[in-house]
Amino acid sequence: MAHALIFDSGVGGLSVAEEIRKLLPELRLSYVADDAFRPYGEKPEAALRARLPRLLTELSLMLDPDIIVIACNTASTTALSEIRAALDVPVIGVVPAIKPAAGLSRTKTIAVLGTPGTVRRKYVDDLIDKFASDCHVILQGSVNLVDEAERKLGGQPVSLEMVKGEIAPIFAGRRGMDVDAVVLACTHFPLLKDELKSCVNQTVFWIDSGEAIAKRVESVLADMVLTKRAKPPVIDTAFLIGPDASDMRKRAFAKFGFEKVVGLMP
Ligand code: DGL
Repeated sequence: MAHALIFDSGVGGLSVAEEIRKLLPELRLSYVADDAFRPYGEKPEAALRARLPRLLTELSLMLDPDIIVIACNTASTTALSEIRAALDVPVIGVVPAIKPAAGLSRTKTIAVLGTPGTVRRKYVDDLIDKFASDCHVILQGSVNLVDEAERKLGGQPVSLEMVKGEIAPIFAGRRGMDVDAVVLACTHFPLLKDELKSCVNQTVFWIDSGEAIAKRVESVLADMVLTKRAKPPVIDTAFLIGPDASDMRKRAFAKFGFEKVVGLMP
């Protein structure tokens, strides 16, 4: 049985883990949330580039995965090549689903809703140039939605007023009425899809990368010769870097199949 390590700054990667589990139920999953350094979306690029290759190297040595999924758009658009260079296992990065959004949009007006860091990255500009040059693209960054997704999975009520306020600029501008596809360019945001949908009056495709990433994991694993066998116990485990998690938070991980939750010192 192969073993994948899924990494994010917090609970966002669970939206990716869910898709991977659906497609590859036999795959053993470990999850790491870098709670100590969240939110990534507000951190300087240099700080993320310094932290992530080192941290992922340590985690890879500790957990010995066959494949790593950086289930974080901010980390991937900032430091994917540095992380890959530091590791000798295949690394799959989650980046904004701009290509499918441009393909689905009839009005050729799309929005990219990510963290403030992601929507500023050159990586995203390059994706737009490559796959959405025929589209008008509205970039919207939000860190409050990251916090809101964290709160939701910690058992707190979501403020629809807040969600509405965070996405209002997408639909309020001159081209707002035309937006028919929104890229959920942060893995936390699919966890708020119902709330996002309920805050918008027009018909919109909400597009994330989860399913495509699951397919990518499947094809990379299919090409690998796996000699290692998972040693018991093979309980899917979540490792949380930082302060001890609340019981609600632990239950949220359990709902996504991570029955064991372990704290790691930063
Ligand atoms: N889940 C992360 C992403 O996909 C970001 C959350 C954060 O800002 O820490 O970008």
